[in-house]
Amino acid sequence: MCGIVGYTGRENALPILIKGLYSLEYRGYDSAGVAAFTGQGLRVVKARGRIANLEERLRAEGELRCTCGIGHTRWATHGEPSDRNSHPHLGGKGKVAVVHNGIIENYKELRDRLEAHGYVFQSETDTETVAHLVDYLHTGKQEDLAQTVLAAVQRIRGSYALGVVSMSEPEEIVAARRDNPLIIGLGEGENMIASDITAIIDRTRRYIILDDNEVAVVRPDSVTVMNEFGDVVEKPVQTVTWDMSAAEKGGYQHFMLKEIMEQPKAVGDTVKPRIAKDAVLFEENGLTDERLRDIEHIHIVGCGSALHAGMVGKRVIETMCRIRCTAEVASEFRYENPIIGKKDLCIVISQSGETADTLAAMRLAKQAGAFTVAVVNVVSSTIAREADGILYTWAGPEISVATTKAYSAQLAALYLIAVKIARVRGLISLGDERALCAELQRLPQCIEQTLGCQQDMQRIAALYANRPSVFFLGRGLDYAAALEASLKLKEISYIHSEAYAAGELKHGTISLIEQGTLVVALATQPALFEKTVSNIREVVSRGAVVVLITTDDFTGDTSVCQHIVRLPKCLYEFSASLSIIPMQLLAYYVAVERSCDVDKPRNLAKSVTVE
Ligand code: AGP
Ligand code: GLU
Repeated sequence: MCGIVGYTGRENALPILIKGLYSLEYRGYDSAGVAAFTGQGLRVVKARGRIANLEERLRAEGELRCTCGIGHTRWATHGEPSDRNSHPHLGGKGKVAVVHNGIIENYKELRDRLEAHGYVFQSETDTETVAHLVDYLHTGKQEDLAQTVLAAVQRIRGSYALGVVSMSEPEEIVAARRDNPLIIGLGEGENMIASDITAIIDRTRRYIILDDNEVAVVRPDSVTVMNEFGDVVEKPVQTVTWDMSAAEKGGYQHFMLKEIMEQPKAVGDTVKPRIAKDAVLFEENGLTDERLRDIEHIHIVGCGSALHAGMVGKRVIETMCRIRCTAEVASEFRYENPIIGKKDLCIVISQSGETADTLAAMRLAKQAGAFTVAVVNVVSSTIAREADGILYTWAGPEISVATTKAYSAQLAALYLIAVKIARVRGLISLGDERALCAELQRLPQCIEQTLGCQQDMQRIAALYANRPSVFFLGRGLDYAAALEASLKLKEISYIHSEAYAAGELKHGTISLIEQGTLVVALATQPALFEKTVSNIREVVSRGAVVVLITTDDFTGDTSVCQHIVRLPKCLYEFSASLSIIPMQLLAYYVAVERSCDVDKPRNLAKSVTVE
């Protein structure tokens, strides 16, 4: 969500900022802007819409040469997406410029007070209060910019990643963060600030992660980080381990398709390091046998697809481990005063590791005394750093807003947890564990085989891309998978869709089924085959067209289904890893048919760092 980039060094900053903004595009945004020091002072250029609009405006406004500047892609929270509301925002009479990611909760109160001091606001944003506040605290005082920003953030409630520049220090960027990600890229004679690694990797692999309440002074030859008391703190320098090619399309039309195809590898890389001698190995993440034996309740929290992975995990864990397990929406969990015991385990699932609601839910569980383990994809992200234990999903950088490979890797991580707990608690034998590990190791191959349905799904997508609404039905694990299938279709194709527990449809929603309604039915659990077939018959009787996703060994009556997609044989508990593949491809090809912006769907952000 939103992207911040800043550069200070010896080269022309503008192309570096624009390139950085492009690499942050995948996070989702609605407008973009830059501020830079030029011969004529601090200049701001911004535009609603794509970065290309900003570039056009920059061309029209003449050359903007500078060696220090900040850039931003905005995902509006306060005020519509417009030129005026785009960042950077100027403070006072244009001496200070600010880019911000997050929400200033007390912005109204600050705005009233600043207006009373004569400040005139140009936008509806909460961010502009920060720009004027910094100017107000800076003007006429001896304090340097960093001390001023430190004083300003102490008056702010809410969340922020900030980049601040001032005419008083034309080579300096001051950065600050609370509950929103910000890193500092360390170069030779140049340094950068950015929301994530993709914006700096082109120039450097070395970076520092800013922690909550810290403020950094970034100059071409130095970086100083202070804590909230103004004391200088030593920060560990991290190194990016992945290659730029991992964040490039590699010949595919869209990142989403590339990432769908990368799923066998993502799952393999997640499973492989955790299996040794036919057993699940968890030493690195604090999930000791003793702890696992004592668990009384497992809370799984996450948002969107991460929650859907959790809903699959809940079913697999309850089946294999017979422990009470709940999968909850993080934004609800955090405010519903959940009952959390000291012997509870909280599994926190997040691709980005920065989702605000998930982070807050995790902090709450931790505070209540539960052991928190994070299933996270982005290394060293906030959730990864704050959790008691980490189980990384090694899916590699995921660029498309619609998650695919990270979701699949999350499922694999949850299966590993289930097998481990089941074994530790004596519910499965050594032999069972060996067999389950073999199945887990076979999963990438099964996913690879399932990807063979690509052309069929493209054909089916072309037939139904114009449908106004689609239903996904399933029971148990298939219902959990249906929820993810429906979200995939909605988010990238903008077709209204619902996922329903197959047996629940007749309690009201079946009234929406009419002649030609597309229903995708998932039936991968033999114990429930016949039940689901009855539900398929119910919708077919009311005019629905059915696509059935089922296993190779399904022997039931399929005569009423228009299309049947057969999945290769795998352990029934792991079937969601296969059934989601044709659904992702269906969503993808429907979106392509409808000429949608697959990788950057409207209104969405890759990493949702606000509430
Ligand atoms: C999935 O395609 C969505 N982009 C969204 O639901 C996402 O899974 C959710 O916002 C959670 O993100 P996270 O995994 O980074 O926490
Ligand atoms: N709340 C700010 C705004 O609406 C920042 C949004 C963002 O994170 O991009 O302008």
